[in-house]
Amino acid sequence: MKLLEPITINGMKVPNRVMVPAMVTRLSGEDGFVSKEISDRYVRYAQGEVGLIVVEAMAIHGSNAGPLLRISDDKFIPGLKEMVRKIHDASDSKVVPQIIHFLKIARSGWRQTVDMLTLEDIERIIQQFGEAAARAREAGFDGIELHNAHAYTLASFVSRVNGRTDEYGGTTLENRLRLIGRVMDSVRRYVGRDFPVGIRYLSDEFIRGGYTVEDAKLIGLRMAQLGADYLSLSVGGKFEDAVHTPGHVLHGYSGYSGERCMPGASFPDALHVPYAAEIKAFIAAKGFDVPVIAAGKLSDPATAEAVLAAGKVDMVAIARGLLADPDWVKKLRLGQLDRIVKCDYCNVCKQLDGAHMPVTCFLWPKGAMQAPADHGPVVQPPAWPESGAGLAIKTEGGSVALKWKKAPGAVYYDVYRTDDDGEPHIVDGVKLPVFTDTAVLGGVRYRYYVRACDANGNAGVPSESVSYDPLVPGHDPAAEAVSAA
Ligand SMILES: Cc1cc2nc3c(=O)[nH]c(=O)nc-3n(C[C@H](O)[C@H](O)[C@H](O)COP(=O)(O)O)c2cc1C
Repeated sequence: MKLLEPITINGMKVPNRVMVPAMVTRLSGEDGFVSKEISDRYVRYAQGEVGLIVVEAMAIHGSNAGPLLRISDDKFIPGLKEMVRKIHDASDSKVVPQIIHFLKIARSGWRQTVDMLTLEDIERIIQQFGEAAARAREAGFDGIELHNAHAYTLASFVSRVNGRTDEYGGTTLENRLRLIGRVMDSVRRYVGRDFPVGIRYLSDEFIRGGYTVEDAKLIGLRMAQLGADYLSLSVGGKFEDAVHTPGHVLHGYSGYSGERCMPGASFPDALHVPYAAEIKAFIAAKGFDVPVIAAGKLSDPATAEAVLAAGKVDMVAIARGLLADPDWVKKLRLGQLDRIVKCDYCNVCKQLDGAHMPVTCFLWPKGAMQAPADHGPVVQPPAWPESGAGLAIKTEGGSVALKWKKAPGAVYYDVYRTDDDGEPHIVDGVKLPVFTDTAVLGGVRYRYYVRACDANGNAGVPSESVSYDPLVPGHDPAAEAVSAA
């Protein structure tokens, strides 16, 4: 299985092809030190055998930002070192921090843009990236990742809407790439060539006037020329289309570009892989063999395996899927796919991040701050009451309402749907024994059943199934039969 094959990235031996990309947890204080909760969160991924753990964005400078990790001063090294040691003790997972510079934002909605920076400001940023990289190496991290994505400083220089007019400006691609080039030079001066340095950047900005995969191919080529050791691709997450809530600072994931970055349940699986594949092929044709990593709804093991097996990317990044179940890789290795807690892309985690509240998963037990410890398969997963699940269906006005009986011990329920005679797939994970499907269409036959799951994803037997076979509104099949005859 390709997912479980190791990969070596500039000497860093990553035990499998699964990365947990950076995901802020909002578990640090405003002081930016590693807390026990943060450390526990990342150790949990290591226990679950995730190949490459990217620790959430940590600031290389001292600007205010609410709860966010920091690597802007030597005083943060001991806390980071301790966390890295615990991660390394837990398994052979590798761990890198994502290091970030961001510009100022205010509650009024005002935000600093790259054209407001002086050349001295730019020199300071270049220096701060180098120093932060050196601290990461000292803390024992296996490498670093430069945050050159979303709404943050480096990505705003690379952006097509960079409004500068000087040599760091938006008029040419070379100018837009000048800062990241100088940052890479600075980082290499501090950490040397033998320390893995990955770069996260956007394969599409998903904003009006922003760049698309056409620029992203060239940007990727430049990153490869600069000696990036891996390219981790994201999309969107920009301020340009962010929605401003009065009294709050802008959240870069609140507009459409944010929706693309963390695509919700209505988006297809693996939706951004084609961009990553195009970038990988383009760079390869130019003679560079830099590992390319895609993110975005890749938590279905069969889908992730197919993407890797087809050679589209070198690793898969799974964020929300691994938040839901940090034991995803371990369960895969043990052939316990049925036990994976399957992310339903409800985006409660995204909303918590936007509100600067501790990021948890909706599918975890109520009040849990971490995914529950896994004790392996259980003899008795949640069972329906003796009288059965009592799955009942009510249809009205083009929607399907399901309800069923509670199963003792269930933490959540997976709702499965079959469309016509296809494979059953999970349409939602819910905490209460009710579900409404508003996305059904006349002329398609549906069948539903429900499974009750415990906190570790151990699912009980399926409920009885119920069917729905809606007609096309206003269409009379009998009349069609007559005209066909
Ligand atoms: C709560 C949350 C926080 C995130 N924080 C970061 C971050 O700090 N840096 C980053 O590059 N991406 C961040 N992301 C984006 C993810 O790394 C990932 O690209 C995105 O969620 C799509 O992958 P997925 O479909 O597997 O969740 C965050 C996503 C979520 C849900």
